[in-house]
Amino acid sequence: MAHDEQTVADTAAESRLDHLLRSLTVREKIGQLQQVQGGGGHVPQELAHAIRDGRVGSVINEVDAATVAQLQAIAVHESRAGIPLLIGRDVIHGFATVFPIPLGMASSWNPTAVERASQIAAREAASRGVNWTFAPMLDIGRDPRWGRVAEGFGEDPWLTSVLGAAAVRGFQGNDVSAPGRVAACAKHFVGYGASESGRDYNTTNIAPRELQDVHLPPFEAAVRAGVASVMTSFSDIDGIPATANRELLQGVLRESWHFDGMVVSDWDSIRQLSVHGLTSDDRESALQAAQAGVDMEMASTTYAVHLESLLEAGAISMDQLDAMVSNVLRLKLRLGLFDRAWEAPASTDVVGCAEHLEAAREIARESIVLLTNTQHRGDYLLPLSPSALRRVALIGPLADDAYEQMGTWVFDGDPSLSRTVRQALAAALPATATLEYVRGLPTTRSLDSAEFAAAVACARDADVAIVVVGEEAILSGEAHCRADVTLPGAQEALIEAVVATGTPVVLVVMAGRPLALERVAHTVQALFYAWHPGSMAGPALVDLLFGVVSPSGRLPVTLPRTSGQIPIYYAHKHTGKPASPETIVSMHDIHPRAPQLSVGNTSFHLDVHPSPLFPFGYGLTYTWVHYDAPTVQRAEVPMHGSVELNATVSNRGAHPVTEVVQLYVRDVVGSVTRPVKELKGFQRVTLAPGERRTVHFTLPVQDLAFTNRDMQRRAETGRFHAWIAPHAATNEHVEFTVHQ
Ligand code: NOJ
Repeated sequence: MAHDEQTVADTAAESRLDHLLRSLTVREKIGQLQQVQGGGGHVPQELAHAIRDGRVGSVINEVDAATVAQLQAIAVHESRAGIPLLIGRDVIHGFATVFPIPLGMASSWNPTAVERASQIAAREAASRGVNWTFAPMLDIGRDPRWGRVAEGFGEDPWLTSVLGAAAVRGFQGNDVSAPGRVAACAKHFVGYGASESGRDYNTTNIAPRELQDVHLPPFEAAVRAGVASVMTSFSDIDGIPATANRELLQGVLRESWHFDGMVVSDWDSIRQLSVHGLTSDDRESALQAAQAGVDMEMASTTYAVHLESLLEAGAISMDQLDAMVSNVLRLKLRLGLFDRAWEAPASTDVVGCAEHLEAAREIARESIVLLTNTQHRGDYLLPLSPSALRRVALIGPLADDAYEQMGTWVFDGDPSLSRTVRQALAAALPATATLEYVRGLPTTRSLDSAEFAAAVACARDADVAIVVVGEEAILSGEAHCRADVTLPGAQEALIEAVVATGTPVVLVVMAGRPLALERVAHTVQALFYAWHPGSMAGPALVDLLFGVVSPSGRLPVTLPRTSGQIPIYYAHKHTGKPASPETIVSMHDIHPRAPQLSVGNTSFHLDVHPSPLFPFGYGLTYTWVHYDAPTVQRAEVPMHGSVELNATVSNRGAHPVTEVVQLYVRDVVGSVTRPVKELKGFQRVTLAPGERRTVHFTLPVQDLAFTNRDMQRRAETGRFHAWIAPHAATNEHVEFTVHQ
């Protein structure tokens, strides 16, 4: 829609909204603010009664198309106000067709892929009557212990902003009322990813500048992309739970960013304000949440029970209530719910259709990260040549598990659509090769080594052993946090036993979080980090194993060596005593009674190397891409100008490649200390063998802004370093200066 048409449409919608609002009684208004649980395939009498009575604005967790149509018909035809319902569902990484977990999709560094996955998820969900999803999750995940790191786009605000906006576009399209689109919800506002010690729902301690520069930007990007709704976080920041945080919900979201969509609480999070110890009872919780700017209450009923009397007591004004209700009605208008006929859709054929599964395969391929690939008999082990294989050993608890490969948040995921690694390998291997499969361990958590001997026997005579380990879906996601993020159970021992056979091993890790793989990563000949790849895990992995496509995935998070390094992320501060290769000392090299100062006094642990196991942005391909040193067109740039940066990249191998070229910047001296590197852009560049290309970045100086000493978001003058690089841990940079 052109801008003028949009303004006219908005004005018409606002007057329709006004009209609607005036037609409602106070009770009906409060009813619009309540979200309740659906019956799961039927309409419970109590729910029908509540809807008829105008006490329900939204239903969560009903995905049976006929039942949704019935619920809507009751709302529209049998309630006095006749207002249709929001039907909400957690459609996080696919509906029946399951895409990689969001952290996996983030490894594609491909906004188009994220947009497509979200669009397909929306199409499938909408065919069942869902009109609102609780995605994308935009929490910055710098702690792999936190189970919900699976649901986000990783540790970096820039990457999360780009992919979050892509997800919003995918769910909503240009017109959220169009068929097959659903309203998106940016969550969890804000800071939830910083839950202390990676324990879900825990308190957060986020310094004000970190909140501004790290946690808020992805939400601002989602608002700019037109996200229809925002969900508050369960957590508190500096003593104020997000669900009662007026400064953030009004000050930042509404006043600074002009968000005019709807704010929903998280499940029960208004009631929990008293559990936090912020309020003494539900009435006070309702008051604090309403005053903070939470429009709709999910699950708990403090608004339903207390808002009317709070209004009568003058604690809440009618204007405040009307503003909340308007936000709900505006979303319903934007979704076009008032203009729909509520009949059960004739068919839900799109769900799990071949086109969607093919998209899941392509996206999974881009999400799997190749971390190591060593030489074997004079050549790299990967890609494998199927015709040269006589015997393939497939081992591991996740090699043939249609359910676990789907990952967390698969309420509607259909395991019967899944294709496992075992199935895909069996289909792809030529008749001249045999595939032998041994599960090895009943689950990833098991300590039962009864099948180890069979696994070893299977590997011993094989040309290659493909070992698929990791974490079951239930070990990550909401409320599923781990203190020790190594491979669970006896999986390391299983790998060790297979490695000892001398057969080359391709290790495939399917997990919901970055695992600390230091003990195994370099014992195997090749390592794929696959996250939970979704329905098409098997075909996607086999495409990569056999070189049908080259791996292009890149880590959207840092992989730690050990749990004790956490939090470890690339955009850390330099500190006044940074560690360097010359200053680090292992505890094994310290003499007994060594003097206190003899270890050099820099910032490192005595028992682990300070570097990560694999850095942010890292990932190999089947070719070798060379980066020339970056260059800057003009080394002196005015504050309101842009920096023009180039680097020439060449594909020096024999395979085509999609290279993720990354731009990092360091602000060398700031009015407050600055991260050692920050991602400021990336491009996916496809290069044929032998191809050489100059990649150009235009970096507006305003993108270098940060929250300065005076808490203002500004770029500062001075020296900067820039890297154009394949990952965050490279050295060769160029310098430029920003002046007034
Ligand atoms: C709680 C989770 O925190 C949130 O992400 C989810 O959308 C809601 N429950 C609804 O299921």
